[in-house]
Amino acid sequence: MTNGAGASARVAIESAYRSCEEVDLSWLAAAPRRNQWSLADDTLSFVSRLVTTLESRIIVEFGSGESTRALARAGAGIDPPAKVVALENDPLFRQRTRRALGRDGATETDVLLTPVVVRRWYGNNVPVYHLTRPFLSAMGRPDLVLVDGPPLPLGGREGSLLQALHLGRTGTVVLLDDASRPSEERALERALEICGDSVELVELADFAKGLAVLVVTSPLEGPAMPPAPSEDGSVE
Ligand SMILES: C[S@@+](CC[C@H](N)C(=O)[O-])C[C@H]1O[C@@H](n2cnc3c(N)ncnc32)[C@H](O)[C@@H]1O
Repeated sequence: MTNGAGASARVAIESAYRSCEEVDLSWLAAAPRRNQWSLADDTLSFVSRLVTTLESRIIVEFGSGESTRALARAGAGIDPPAKVVALENDPLFRQRTRRALGRDGATETDVLLTPVVVRRWYGNNVPVYHLTRPFLSAMGRPDLVLVDGPPLPLGGREGSLLQALHLGRTGTVVLLDDASRPSEERALERALEICGDSVELVELADFAKGLAVLVVTSPLEGPAMPPAPSEDGSVE
């Protein structure tokens, strides 16, 4: 059952979904050029509106790019402005995103170079962003997490979706892009298997690439970084 914070997150989600067609994305088209790795327009519009309707304070993104620009702009447009932190494993794309943010004047948005590593978590070896304890305590618990990385050739999003859910507090909204691909369907299924008692799936139709919308209804136990492997370095 949805509790208070979960219920208000749901109201914010429904309000963003109803009003996202009003979002102007024309400023994004200019530079750098959009490609198939980026969020589709409908998702960018929804995410941008959701930042406002949720009155987000802390936003985390896994996998930077055009979406970071949209989050930065939406986050700067609310009072007080939201803190936006994007995690990026690839130095090239980190540099590109930072340059684009610089051109936008969104220099307060962090794009952190964060390695993707393999850790054993809930019985599987999964790729996760390497989140350190100082980072986790400095950042605080986000109210919105967008999962759009790591890319499939680096192992996909099973681990990062679990991380996103573990980062959250009650009422945190976690978005999984590309949710209609088989790899993301599997990641979602696995996350619900593991975290289903603490998470509610909100069904929203018609996103071009699929978008799974999850609300954390009670905080998950354990940190958002799985345990380190044994001293001999073995990964089963
Ligand atoms: C799905 S992309 C993230 C896209 C971003 N959220 C956006 O909306 O633009 C996930 C990751 O793929 C990598 N990536 C992005 N574009 C790429 C490309 N053209 N070739 C290889 N890797 C790419 C980056 O490391 C990025 O973090």
